[in-house]
Amino acid sequence: MKSLIRRSRSHVILVLCMLSLSGLCTGEADSGDDGAPMDKTEQAALYSAIQGFVGNLWNGSDLYPDPCGWTPIQGVSCDIFDGLWYVTSLSIGPIHENSLICAPIVEFRQDLFELKHLRSLSFFSCFISPHQHPIALPTTDWSKLAGNLESLEFRSNPGSIGQIPTCFGNLINLQSLVLLENGLTGEIPENIGHLTSLKRLVLAGNWFTGRIPDSFGRLNELLILDLNRNLLSGPLPLTIEGLTSLLKLDLSNNQLEGQLPNGIGYLKNLTLLDLRNNKFSGGLTKSLQEMYSLEEMVLSTNSIGGDLKSIEWDKLQNLVILDLSNLGLVGEIPDSFGQLKRLRFLGLSDNKLTGSLSPKLASLPCVGALYVGGNNLTGELKFSQEFYRKMGRRFGAWSNPNLCYPGGLVSTSHAPYGVKPCQQELRSHSD
Ligand SMILES: *[C@@H]1O[C@H](CO)[C@@H](O)[C@H](O)[C@H]1NC(C)=O
Ligand SMILES: *[C@@H]1O[C@H](CO)[C@@H](O)[C@H](O)[C@H]1NC(C)=O
Ligand SMILES: *[C@@H]1O[C@H](CO)[C@@H](O)[C@H](O)[C@H]1NC(C)=O
Repeated sequence: MKSLIRRSRSHVILVLCMLSLSGLCTGEADSGDDGAPMDKTEQAALYSAIQGFVGNLWNGSDLYPDPCGWTPIQGVSCDIFDGLWYVTSLSIGPIHENSLICAPIVEFRQDLFELKHLRSLSFFSCFISPHQHPIALPTTDWSKLAGNLESLEFRSNPGSIGQIPTCFGNLINLQSLVLLENGLTGEIPENIGHLTSLKRLVLAGNWFTGRIPDSFGRLNELLILDLNRNLLSGPLPLTIEGLTSLLKLDLSNNQLEGQLPNGIGYLKNLTLLDLRNNKFSGGLTKSLQEMYSLEEMVLSTNSIGGDLKSIEWDKLQNLVILDLSNLGLVGEIPDSFGQLKRLRFLGLSDNKLTGSLSPKLASLPCVGALYVGGNNLTGELKFSQEFYRKMGRRFGAWSNPNLCYPGGLVSTSHAPYGVKPCQQELRSHSD
C-alpha cells in the first residue's frame, strides 16, 4: 500500500520533471525520487554483488528496497537508460559514515560483472588481511564492463594480492586506473599500454617487478603516471617521449637504471618529475633543460654522476623545487641557479661538489631552503648575516670540511649551522 502511494506521488514528480528541462531531471537522478523502476535483474545483481563484499547478513532488499530511488545506498549511484534505472557507480569501503564496509572474507561474485552500465567502480580499504584472507583479483569477466567503465580504483587493499589481470587491458574506455597501495605483484601487463583513453594511471605502493612496458608510450592522453614505491627495474623505455600530455611523472622508489633517455625532453607540459631513490646513471641528460613547464624536479639518491654544467638551468624558469642531492655529482655549482626566480628549495647535498658557493644564490627571491652539505665546497661563505638569520638551519652547509664563514663579520648567534669560522691563517692563505 505504502509503495503504491509512493509510486503515484513519484509519477507526479516525474511529470513535473518532464515538464521542466529533461536534462536537469537526469542530472539530479542520483538522489531524486524518480518514478522510473529499476531493472529487476540489475537490482538483484546489485544486492548480490554487494553482499559478496559486505557479508551475508546484509540483506539489501530489506534495507534498501529502492536503491536508485527513495532508499539510496551510500556508495551507489544510478542513471536512467531506456526508462529503467541502472547502477553507474559503485564504491565499497569506509569513505563516509554509512558506507558499505567489507566483511573479513569477501568474494567477487559473478553478479558484479552484470552491472554493465557501471562507469565507476572503487574499492577502498576493503581487502585488508594479506595473511589471513588474501584475495586475488578475478582474472576473467572484466571485459563485460568494458563498454562503460571509465574509472577503476583499488586503494589501500593490502589483502588484494596476485597480478594485474591481463584482461584489464580490454577496458578500453578507462580514463582512470588507480591501483594504489595494495599487495599486487608480478609484471605490469603490456596491454595496459593499449588503454589509450587513460588520463590517470596510478600503480604506486605495490610489489610490481620487471620493466615499465614499452607500450606505455602509446598513452598520449595520460596526464598522471605514478608508479612510485614498487620494485620496477630496467631502463626507462625510449617510448616515454610519446607521453606528450603528461603533467606528473612519479617513478620514485624503484630500482630503475640506465641513462635518462633524451626523449624525456619532449614532455613539455610536465610539471612534476620525481625519480628519487632509483639506480639511474649516466649523467644529467641535457634534454632535461627542455622541460620548460617543470615546477618540481626531484632526482635525488641515484648514481647519475657527472656535473651540473651539462644543463642550462636558467631555462627551467618555472622550477620551484629542485632536489639533486646524493647523485654523485662532481664539479662546481654553476651561477645559473641564481636565475631561477621561482625556486624555493634547492637540494645539492651529499654529492662531491667542489669550488666555492656563489653568493648570488642568496639573491634568489623565493628561496626558503638551500642544502649544500656533505660536499667538498671550499673557501669562505660570502652570504650576509641577514641571510643566515632568515634561513636558520634551512641553509645547510655542514659537512664541507674546507668551508668556513668570516667570523669577524657574522656574529656567532647567526652563524651558519655546522660551519666553522675562518681562521685568520686560513683566510690569508686562501687570499
Ligand atoms: C532478505 O529478506 C527477505 C525478506 O525478509 C527474504 O525473503 C530474503 O530471502 C532475504 N535475502 C537474503 C539474501 O538473505
Ligand atoms: C600542453 O599544454 C598546453 C597549455 O595548457 C595545451 O594547449 C597543449 O595542448 C598541451 N600539450 C599536450 C600535448 O597535451
Ligand atoms: C676536497 O678539496 C680539497 C681542496 O680543494 C682537496 O685537497 C681534498 O682532497 C678534497 N677532499 C675530498 C674528500 O675530495
